[in-house]
Amino acid sequence: MKTYPVVSFALLAFGLVAGCDSGSKSGRGFKFPEGDAARGRAAFVELKCVKCHRVDGVDGLPAPTESPDKVLTLGGEVVRLRTYGDLVTAVIHPSAGISEKYIAEQRGAVKKSPMEPVNDSMTVAQMLDIVTFLHPRYKKLAPLYEFGTGP
Ligand code: HEC
Repeated sequence: MKTYPVVSFALLAFGLVAGCDSGSKSGRGFKFPEGDAARGRAAFVELKCVKCHRVDGVDGLPAPTESPDKVLTLGGEVVRLRTYGDLVTAVIHPSAGISEKYIAEQRGAVKKSPMEPVNDSMTVAQMLDIVTFLHPRYKKLAPLYEFGTGP
């Protein structure tokens, strides 16, 4: 487990360098300073993210209060594993992309993200702590067929 952040950084760096967006407004050069997961959990409640989100494998959070069409469980098994960069973008720039899991759950009836902007009230430390809290909750969906596991 010790190498996990290193691997994530490598993936993030690779994603940023290999990404198609290489202009001066690309994420290239962004290096994620590790936050604190326990503080992230507290900030997740304080900033009312829990109104719309459960977090896979995390118990004891206040239950969502918004209607089901605005509720999404974060983490769990996903087709494409989220990088720190993906999660930072999802929090501070929600209109940049919509979670494929949410689109599937809403049967495609999604026009835009219902997330309200928090950039004027969230501190940078809270953002980093929240992403550090959420990142390990994502797991890669196992492929339907595993190679080399047969008889
Ligand atoms: C009004 C409801 C609502 C609130 C409040 C809200 N979100 Fe969301 N959030 C959503 C919905 C719905 C999605 C799925 C659509 C999308 O990708 O933007 C989402 C997507 C996300 C994603 C990307 C999920 C993925 O797996 O790709 C992250 C991360 C996230 N929210 C974090 C937060 C954080 C942190 C807060 C609090 C600062 C917050 N959200 C507040 C409704 C909300």
